[in-house]
Amino acid sequence: MRGDGVSIEAVTSRDAMTEFAMLPFQVYGEREAWWPPDVQNEIDLLCSRAPISSHLAMMPLAARRAGKLVARVTAVVNFRYNTHWNEQIGQLIHFEALPNETAAAASMIEEAAQWLRQRGMTAVRSGFAAFLDYPYAVDNYCTLPPFLLRNSPEYYHNYFKSAGFMTEKGLTDFTIALTPQTLASYPKMIDDAARRGVRVQTWREHGFMNAVDAWTDVTNSAFERHWGWNPITREEVRPMLAGLARTEVADLSTLAIAGGDVVGAVFAVPDFSARLARVRHGVRLEETRGGGTRGALINIGVLEGWRGTGANLAMAARSFSAMARQGMKYAGYTLVLDENWPSRRTAQKLGGAITSNFVVYRRDFVK
Ligand SMILES: CC(C)(COP(=O)(O)OP(=O)(O)OC[C@H]1O[C@@H](n2cnc3c(N)ncnc32)[C@H](O)[C@@H]1OP(=O)(O)O)[C@@H](O)C(=O)NCCC(=O)NCCS
Repeated sequence: MRGDGVSIEAVTSRDAMTEFAMLPFQVYGEREAWWPPDVQNEIDLLCSRAPISSHLAMMPLAARRAGKLVARVTAVVNFRYNTHWNEQIGQLIHFEALPNETAAAASMIEEAAQWLRQRGMTAVRSGFAAFLDYPYAVDNYCTLPPFLLRNSPEYYHNYFKSAGFMTEKGLTDFTIALTPQTLASYPKMIDDAARRGVRVQTWREHGFMNAVDAWTDVTNSAFERHWGWNPITREEVRPMLAGLARTEVADLSTLAIAGGDVVGAVFAVPDFSARLARVRHGVRLEETRGGGTRGALINIGVLEGWRGTGANLAMAARSFSAMARQGMKYAGYTLVLDENWPSRRTAQKLGGAITSNFVVYRRDFVK
């Protein structure tokens, strides 16, 4: 305990983990609409019972003021990431904090940073780690964010800057209005790719679980040098996606096939806001954000040898056409690094414009 009543504690008991996993309800609970966390999933991760756990060393920390939980974070060494990139970078995931808690948040982050330093890390990042962490919003603070993301409060920036962090990367989210004119441009994209020997199949047509494996393989190859990514295994992806086989995902997700091989993959989802978001009674979401009208392309990759063939446009065009048939008026194209021109151009050519922005923070440890 420090003089200001703040204490930083390791989170070890089951009760403390539950309290830790529930903090977002205090941060976002008063909003009209937000995506609540999967509490059980988070507790499984904290208990090292998740498929990804064998790749991680973790230290969840809680900041309390006069006994009350006011901030949380988990310091992570992701061995797989560090081996892949030949770096010694730690990650801070699960960061959430109440307002007016700059000192508590900064001490907690410092404690987490020291834990990482003691394990030989030379830097720490917060806001991007495959399957573990997503970036911080810099706009649209109070609206429902795109699926999987959080429109974190604006005061988080102050907390990270106070803890010595810099902005490392910017990421954007595009929205495509599925107007008759835009939809009319899609068949030509599919035909152009077909003329170059690339045809598109949905995951349902390919066989859902085979498509899941193909997605894993294509993603590992296409994202091999994509900043922030680390390789993943079929064994960890299968249980994550298997439950979606009977949902619209099977018709919205697509593959690019050439000469019998899968050379590209898209993972796309319907509008999950009615099923998964917390929307205050009586609130109607903007059509661009949810309420049954916004599907989303979550991930797209084309094997290097097949880039420039239009496989990217054909896969997305087929996915967005299926979204429109299912009644969606908008498609998200989620999370593009500012400097990823091939992906930005892909989104633009499909009719997209940037509608949300996010950042990732980093601090290099001084020797
Ligand atoms: C993103 C991806 C699917 C795009 O597919 P692709 O086949 O490479 O796309 P294209 O060849 O059609 O290129 C897209 C556009 O980017 C342009 N482009 C490529 N490199 C560029 C650069 N360095 N600067 C500016 N524009 C660039 C191309 O000229 C093209 O635009 P144009 O048609 O107006 O000329 C593919 O590059 C990929 O798999 N990348 C790795 C994974 C990834 O980043 N996925 C997206 C994550 S958000």
